[in-house]
Amino acid sequence: MKLDIEKVFPFVDKEALKQKQEEAVAQLKILKEKTGKGSDFLAWLDLPQKISLSEIDKINKIAANWKSYDAVVVVGIGGSYLGAKAVIEVLSKYFEKNDAPEMLFAGHQLDENYLSELLEYLADKNYGIIVISKSGTTLEPALAFRLLLNQIKDRFTESAIKERVIAITDVQKGALRKLVTQYDLESFIVPDDIGGRYSVLTAVGLLPIAVAGWNIKEMIKGASEMQTQLQEERADNIAISYAAIRNLLYEKGFTNEVLAYSVQRFRFFAEWWKQLFGESEGKEQKGIFPVSLNYTTDLHSLGQYMQEGERKLFETFIRLSKSDKTLTVSKTAENYDELNYLAGKTVHHINSKAEEGTIEAHYSGGVPVLQIVIDDLSEKTVAELIYFFEISCAISGYLLGVNPFDQPGVEAYKKNMFALLGKK
Ligand code: PA5
Repeated sequence: MKLDIEKVFPFVDKEALKQKQEEAVAQLKILKEKTGKGSDFLAWLDLPQKISLSEIDKINKIAANWKSYDAVVVVGIGGSYLGAKAVIEVLSKYFEKNDAPEMLFAGHQLDENYLSELLEYLADKNYGIIVISKSGTTLEPALAFRLLLNQIKDRFTESAIKERVIAITDVQKGALRKLVTQYDLESFIVPDDIGGRYSVLTAVGLLPIAVAGWNIKEMIKGASEMQTQLQEERADNIAISYAAIRNLLYEKGFTNEVLAYSVQRFRFFAEWWKQLFGESEGKEQKGIFPVSLNYTTDLHSLGQYMQEGERKLFETFIRLSKSDKTLTVSKTAENYDELNYLAGKTVHHINSKAEEGTIEAHYSGGVPVLQIVIDDLSEKTVAELIYFFEISCAISGYLLGVNPFDQPGVEAYKKNMFALLGKK
């Protein structure tokens, strides 16, 4: 992957960038030495090169055993959901199914129709459940899991629970851990020193991804290479540059960052990215607001705002340099659509030109643009992106002066909701 920063100038001053990169290098050092804020939540930093082979083997063994299931339901929310969902969506083809079970998700909202229809859909399916909750007490997944577990109990014998349910939770605390003991369930630990939004390279993300049929060893390889590269205390480290530029733009009033993508398989990756940056930086009345746009679709809705709305936005594009498939436009005799000028060009080429045109237009309209370029949609590449964003986010949060590893603000809605629901 490459980071192109050419179009952040002149919004960012070159001298100021040099200075901010030096500050960012100092923050990276603090991160590595574990002397900064939230330093007891840093195990993700060295995880790719530390993850045990036995954990990977255990995960792959389960994936092989569960291959014959029609479906697997992954129950979780936030950091216990988005990473797996994002990676599976980046890797999966649009219409062609691989030979793994269908991956379904629950516990990430409270929509009654969704849960009812899910239970109806599963009523005659041969399925397993991966329930993920670090705390074991989060309402959305706990409720979905209660409903699903009831269905398993009703449809199968008591022993089916042990065969069909795997829990990923705290090593000792919480309701899920009790369930693991009660039914002697297969389980994985969410490490104490890794927060939800940094957990995709633990079993939290890796187990659903492996069950969905993807190669998690390749992911670890990609993340591991990035670990070496992005921990280098150098100004030209791309994580240092990205973190430094974000902070400089923020200081100049660019308070919103748009993650833009034209490869549709990035929809949930953008959701993962939003949680990572939003939950890490949005605190103490500070922080860049992360949003995402899907091109060219959103150029026909929010494109107007991007071009001429309030100038508080900068844009980070994820661009794919080449496509796996080739679809070439043909010439027609009637040319009723007047598209013959595109004859001989591929759809990917047209999409790239749409991206370039958009970048140029937004840039001249006052939007600083960063570009991340990747060459494929492989396990290795997606893991590289994950590690890049994780470490950039940590450095960026430190530059902003916040603790990027806590999320005290998410408790407020829960307090009100529980009071309204009469929880004692
Ligand atoms: O990043 C986070 O910490 C949150 O998004 C949590 O992952 C989310 O709230 C789910 O929490 P839990 O895994 O405890 O159910």
